[in-house]
Amino acid sequence: MALPVRLLVLVLLVVVIGETGKLSTLRLLRAEPTQDRTALLAFINRIPHERRLRWDNSSACDWVGVTCDDNRTAVVFLRLPGVGLIGTIPSGTLGNLSALRVLSLRSNRLSGPIPADFRGLALLRSLYLQNNLLSGSIPSGLTQLTRLVRLDLSGNNLTGAIPFAINNLTHLTGLFLQNNRLSGNLPPINIDSLVAFNVSYNRLNGSIPKILEHFSASSFVGNLDLCGGPLPPCNPFFPSPAPSPAANPVNGSSKKKLSKAAKIAIAVAAGVVLLLILLLLLVCLAYRRRRQRARDKAAKGTAAATAARSGDTGMTSSSKDDLSGGVSGSGTASAVAAAERNRLVFVGKGGGYSFDLEDLLRASAEVLGKGSVGTSYKAVLEEGTTVVVKRLKDVAVSKREFEVHIESLGKVEHDNLLPLRAYYYSKDEKLLVFDYLPAGSLSSLLHGSRGSGRTPLDWDSRMRIALAAGRGLSHLHTAPQVVHGNVKASNVLLRTDLDSAALSDFGLHTLFGTTAPPNRVAGYRAPEVLETRRPTFKSDVYSFGVLLLELLTGKAPNQASLGEDGIDLPRWVQSVVREEWTAEVFDVELMRYPNIEEEMVQLLQVAMACVAIVPDTRPDLPDVVRMMEEIVSRTESNDEGRRVVGSGGPSPPPTTTP
Ligand SMILES: *[C@@H]1O[C@H](CO)[C@@H](O)[C@H](O)[C@H]1NC(C)=O
Ligand SMILES: *[C@@H]1O[C@H](CO)[C@@H](O)[C@H](O)[C@H]1NC(C)=O
Ligand SMILES: *[C@@H]1O[C@H](CO)[C@@H](O)[C@H](O)[C@H]1NC(C)=O
Ligand SMILES: *[C@@H]1O[C@H](CO)[C@@H](O)[C@H](O)[C@H]1NC(C)=O
Ligand SMILES: *[C@@H]1O[C@H](CO)[C@@H](O)[C@H](O)[C@H]1NC(C)=O
Ligand SMILES: *[C@@H]1O[C@H](CO)[C@@H](O)[C@H](O)[C@H]1NC(C)=O
Ligand SMILES: *[C@@H]1O[C@H](CO)[C@@H](O)[C@H](O)[C@H]1NC(C)=O
Ligand SMILES: *[C@@H]1O[C@H](CO)[C@@H](O)[C@H](O)[C@H]1NC(C)=O
Repeated sequence: MALPVRLLVLVLLVVVIGETGKLSTLRLLRAEPTQDRTALLAFINRIPHERRLRWDNSSACDWVGVTCDDNRTAVVFLRLPGVGLIGTIPSGTLGNLSALRVLSLRSNRLSGPIPADFRGLALLRSLYLQNNLLSGSIPSGLTQLTRLVRLDLSGNNLTGAIPFAINNLTHLTGLFLQNNRLSGNLPPINIDSLVAFNVSYNRLNGSIPKILEHFSASSFVGNLDLCGGPLPPCNPFFPSPAPSPAANPVNGSSKKKLSKAAKIAIAVAAGVVLLLILLLLLVCLAYRRRRQRARDKAAKGTAAATAARSGDTGMTSSSKDDLSGGVSGSGTASAVAAAERNRLVFVGKGGGYSFDLEDLLRASAEVLGKGSVGTSYKAVLEEGTTVVVKRLKDVAVSKREFEVHIESLGKVEHDNLLPLRAYYYSKDEKLLVFDYLPAGSLSSLLHGSRGSGRTPLDWDSRMRIALAAGRGLSHLHTAPQVVHGNVKASNVLLRTDLDSAALSDFGLHTLFGTTAPPNRVAGYRAPEVLETRRPTFKSDVYSFGVLLLELLTGKAPNQASLGEDGIDLPRWVQSVVREEWTAEVFDVELMRYPNIEEEMVQLLQVAMACVAIVPDTRPDLPDVVRMMEEIVSRTESNDEGRRVVGSGGPSPPPTTTP
């Protein structure tokens, strides 16, 4: 619970001291992990190493690369990347560190087999042995470490088959075996949490199991004779031997396939039903309006209709029918009662649009999405204008309140806020009209067609979009003092110029009362809103923090599936950061860009401050924006330096961080 606060304190400490890391060496207690110390000393004395590690007679918990638990009774992390360890890992040493969670020995010159006694590391969550010269087969002991989340054995000299028992590692999210000399068939690896997988550049043969086909070709390339799935199909005349019966994922895979097919079918069916309902509704509405008009005409005579039309002629262009509904500027009070009733009311500047409800109803509509406030349609009017029409459901305020509120929202103007252009209110139907931005939403850009060869959203773009959204929200909070109430990635709409990305759907929550189901913005909703059911400035800050986490991790907060059951994005990030695998929280798509880790960590700290559990400890939005601007400006001045330095001689080799 206190973790976010602690993180905020950490952020402040880092800012004040101006130095990262080494905070773990704060001495809290003077206990000593005696047994682990013995094991560590046995290890370091029996393995040659190039760089001197000062593992002296101070507490083992303060040694380079060693981290103990809070009680200083056991070693939980051992990280010795790139310290020039040479030779075989002595057995009976590291395998005795029974409380170890993270073991990193990557980028050394370790050779020989992976010790069998690693099976004793029962609590291990991450094992990084990549880029060494380890040989032999993958020991069966590793497949008993059922808590493993990351297993990286890539870039070694491992031989033999990939054991089917890998399936024992049910929490695995990343399995990296590329660049070894592994042979034989690829076993069906049926682990739900697995998101990163690579067996490229080995000597595997046979067909790729169905369950692994969704990984891209680059996870499999460079093997002796691997085929099927994303690679070229297998030769049908010489079928590769089927995996051994024991290795058959009897239920899991087929169940999964079925459910996927079922999901698609359901989605399609839902789409069709939605369209049908919309069509029916539009027909009903048009019919009702026609009857209404006939009645009005009968009552008031044709003079009224003529007056209504002549009143509109300045603005309507394309409507050819005999219309009583018309377009009117926000201030123009029409004298005609009939026209009043079915009027599309333009607010703010109205966007210079000239169309009316009839035009909207005639427009070709396409469902854009079913959001938390209602369904959105893209409507292409006959004259070629495109707008977004939002059909609000469950509106719980009177017509008067609705009008006053929408009129005030219409006055909000900022480059990073999507303007509201018009509304329509009747007993049965409440519509809002917005500009249509063809570039789509941040959500679709970030999560759409992931892994299918799309161009990932780079770091610079993510930062610009985040800043744009932050500025919009900051304006909303300061000038018109409106609570957004629905900050999420699908409400961040993009323009070609990413700096003018715009937040949509602001301030609509007050239209729905508090009876609305609390799951309106699942994943982004601040914890206190579950009780109060009323969004506040501070709950907007929370949602914005989740949005930042989404940009950093590439994970959608409302789709759960963050490994463990139903855990939300802030809690997931907190757990990962607490376990000090900070680098692992970041989106794998960001890993290809060099020199951004520091910025990512800084933005992560801002985001964590925003998702504090206690609302009052969250920063205000203008402060959040200021912190983000500082991150960007610091980088820009750094880049300047980098460019000047780098322009002369040969560029230095890329450095790796532990
Ligand atoms: C590791 O544990 C084994 C058995 O528990 C023990 O015999 C051995 O001495 C230990 N090694 C070290 C270096 O403490
Ligand atoms: C470390 O041990 C040596 C003797 O082995 C002793 O002279 C020295 O004072 C000790 N240093 C500390 C910091 O305890
Ligand atoms: C610290 O020790 C206490 C009591 O021995 C124990 O309950 C607690 O779980 C320990 N904490 C850690 C992090 O090991
Ligand atoms: C890998 O192991 C083979 C023997 O199994 C050996 O011939 C080869 O030199 C090793 N490769 C490296 C890079 O150590
Ligand atoms: C799989 O894990 C279980 C414990 O969960 C263990 O008993 C078994 O030996 C493991 N199988 C293999 C092949 O490692
Ligand atoms: C795959 O390789 C193994 C040994 O590495 C061999 O026994 C088997 O016949 C090969 N299978 C195919 C289809 O080539
Ligand atoms: C797998 O590893 C190879 C070799 O390092 C690399 O080229 C490829 O991009 C990786 N594929 C994935 C999906 O990570
Ligand atoms: C397959 O499902 C049956 C029950 O439907 C279950 O008893 C069996 O253990 C399952 N087998 C595997 C390999 O999951």
